[in-house]
Amino acid sequence: MTASTILGIETSCDETAAAVVRDGSDVLSSVVSSQIELHARFGGVVPEVASRAHLASINPVIDRALADAGLPAAAIDAIACTVGPGLIGALLVGLSAAKALALAWRVPLVGVNHHEAHLYAAFLEDPSLEFPLVVLLVSGGHTMIIEMAGHGRYRLLGRTIDDAAGEAYDKVARFLDLGYPGGPAIDRLARRGDPQAVAFPRAMMTREGSADTLDVSFSGLKTAVVNHARRHPGLDSADIAASFQAAVVDVLVTKTRRAAAQVGARGVVLAGGVAANSQLRADLAAACHADGLACFLPSPALCTDNAAMIAAVGWHRLHADGPSPLDIGAQPNLRLAFG
Ligand code: KG4
Ligand code: ZN
Repeated sequence: MTASTILGIETSCDETAAAVVRDGSDVLSSVVSSQIELHARFGGVVPEVASRAHLASINPVIDRALADAGLPAAAIDAIACTVGPGLIGALLVGLSAAKALALAWRVPLVGVNHHEAHLYAAFLEDPSLEFPLVVLLVSGGHTMIIEMAGHGRYRLLGRTIDDAAGEAYDKVARFLDLGYPGGPAIDRLARRGDPQAVAFPRAMMTREGSADTLDVSFSGLKTAVVNHARRHPGLDSADIAASFQAAVVDVLVTKTRRAAAQVGARGVVLAGGVAANSQLRADLAAACHADGLACFLPSPALCTDNAAMIAAVGWHRLHADGPSPLDIGAQPNLRLAFG
């Protein structure tokens, strides 16, 4: 593959991000402007607020990414930008900027799937990861167990049938009055709680009926937490947080381990915002160690949305499939191509 320096742009949700990455894994700069504080008072991301904030930040964030990389615009060989999935208005801000720059700088544009980018966060830190891999992708919007047989070759093994793992964290945190986003707050609170205080249900893990599926379900768990807390008002919220977290992590680790055994994976990769969870990281690492599997845990900055992972996928896609047409549209419901 030819050497290339790619500018990545990401605006699918509530982070405005730009990064410069050389040859798919050498991160020269990565700038992330988070809108978390803007949305916190609403208890979640407000699409219109997100679009406006992206508009205000996109040019300064791109300028900063070039400056941090110490490169002039002329050094950029291609632009990679998230085209979906995500919020339509938010996606359009990044994509319009990417198209304008591609035209002005006369460089190719490559549209990137945001989920695929989360899978590639691992390759930024360890380009030598060996296939087949099982990826546990856990974020605010999605929970998927994916087999990665090679670059661009994915198979969906399991997914949530209702709430995403991050969504369950955010809903339970809202109920416990812990603010937004809920994941980090529950993670912190759980450290001083007893994970065995309450035996919350582990859906779809028992031997009856649904035991063999690699799908997961979290909405019953959320309801169980709410009902239990209402019935036991004196219960320490740290114990509730720790017991809830123990149930989520137990399910995710058990299913991922089973998936890895089923496909004969050489390693397991954790990805997405919930990959920052301390208990999930510790338990998954221990399970992989016990099963003789390589375990890749991305550093926290690569778990959440960033543009370095967009540029990394852009490099692979550009060399495998060529550039995208300049009239490529934003695709809010884009899925990973599973084959
Ligand atoms: O991937 P991400 O940044 O955004 C998308 O959903 O695409 O993930 C955000 C999600 C939120 O639900 C947040 O509560 C959760 O990741 N999260 C965590 C932790 N840090 C972030 N969940 C559990 N433990 C954490 N430490
Ligand atoms: Zn994401």
